[in-house]
This record gives sequence, C-alpha cells and structure tokens, in this order.
Amino acid sequence: MLQHVLAASRTNNQVVGVGSGSTIVYAVDRLAERVRQEKLNIVCVPTSFQARQLILQHGLTLSDLDRHPELDVAIDGADEVDSDLTLIKGGGGCLTQEKIVAGCAKHFIVIADYRKDSKALGQQWKKGVPIEVIPMAYVPVSRAIARCFGGEANLRMAVSKAGPVVTDNSNFILDWKFEQAQNWKEVNTAIKMIPGVVETGLFVGMAERAYFGMEDGSVQVRDPPVN
Ligand code: A5P
Repeated sequence: MLQHVLAASRTNNQVVGVGSGSTIVYAVDRLAERVRQEKLNIVCVPTSFQARQLILQHGLTLSDLDRHPELDVAIDGADEVDSDLTLIKGGGGCLTQEKIVAGCAKHFIVIADYRKDSKALGQQWKKGVPIEVIPMAYVPVSRAIARCFGGEANLRMAVSKAGPVVTDNSNFILDWKFEQAQNWKEVNTAIKMIPGVVETGLFVGMAERAYFGMEDGSVQVRDPPVN
C-alpha cells in the first residue's frame, strides 16, 4: 500500500504532513527509507506529539506550520472511512492538529486497513465521534450535543491515569455515540458552533483519496464520488 502512497508524491523537495496513530508508522518507516536511499529533501510537519517523536526517531527533518504553512501532502490514518470519503478521526485524541495540518495540505491522503472501510459512519467504528472540548465546558457541550442530535457524548477517561484523557492541546475529549445517520457536513458545522468545542473528529470533504490495505495483501483505492 505504501508504495502507492509514496509513488504519488514522486517529486523531491516536498513538505509532508505526518498523521498520528498506528498505521502512519508504516508510512513513516517507508518515507525514511526512501529519504535515505534516494537522498530526498523532505520536510515533515507533525500532527501530534507522537508524530513529532516518530519524525525525530526516523531522522527526518522536523518542521511546523510557522515555517511551512503550506504542505504538499498530508498522510494520515482514520478510524472509519465511508463511501463519500467522510472520516471519523480522533480515536487517538489527535483530531485537532490532524485537521489543521490536513487543511493546510494541497492533497490529503488517508491510509487504512479494510476494517476502517464502511458504507456509512458507525458501521465499523463503534466508539463514537471524538470531539475535543475546553475542559470547563465538557458538561454543557455534552448536554447540547445530546439535546440537538440525540445519542450521548461521554467524557473519554484515561486508562493508565486517573481522570480524563488530556489532549496534546490540554483539552478533554467527548466521544459522541450517535443513534442514526446524519448529514455530517451540517452536524460538523453545528457542533463546532457550540461554545467550548475546539474541533470535531468529522472530516468532511477533506480526503482526496483513501488507500485500504486488504486482508489478502492487495490495496483498494477510493476517491470521493463525483457530484
Ligand atoms: C488519531 O487521533 C486518529 O485520528 C488516528 O489517525 C486514527 O485513529 C487512526 O489510527 P490507527 O492507525 O491507530 O487506527
């Protein structure tokens, strides 16, 4: 799968957004290999503390949006990808920086395995839509989401720490378990308007292409539908 993604960025002197999660690790391994073998000049902008570590551990050139506000390509994983290429992201809590970096890239490419592929959001990913919130607002935001859109938005609790998960931006995460399919573009905009919401894990109309690694080792490619 990764040769497909990296072949798409054949050009040297690229600024690459590096996503977060477990799938992106394979892409960074391959990127670092190509940088070494082909002596490429690649600059990487991270989407999280984890991505920053990944870039440094692979000896890649670390940058940021101050120095490189325009990226050639951003590559990232996803928790779920529907048939329109609408994504749920933020299972790892990095949705805000991921969305900022993807929004600064000319091309936003998703890499995922077949378990993330679904016709409609919620079919595969059962943990809900992650929503990053300012800590003092998590109760009113949670109530507003349940009132306006149904379902429930629960504070994500840490596993090896007492209390809630705290994001790289020092905020909390609500996981919104929705009850039915929604107009994701409208819901995304409406949730973002609730005071205290920093960002949602709904990525609507952002991904240009998704590569799915299949069980048999093959790769499937999905582009957004043409309207
Ligand atoms: C991080 O917050 C997420 O958006 C990840 O990009 C996404 O969850 C994919 O992660 P995995 O590759 O670990 O499934």
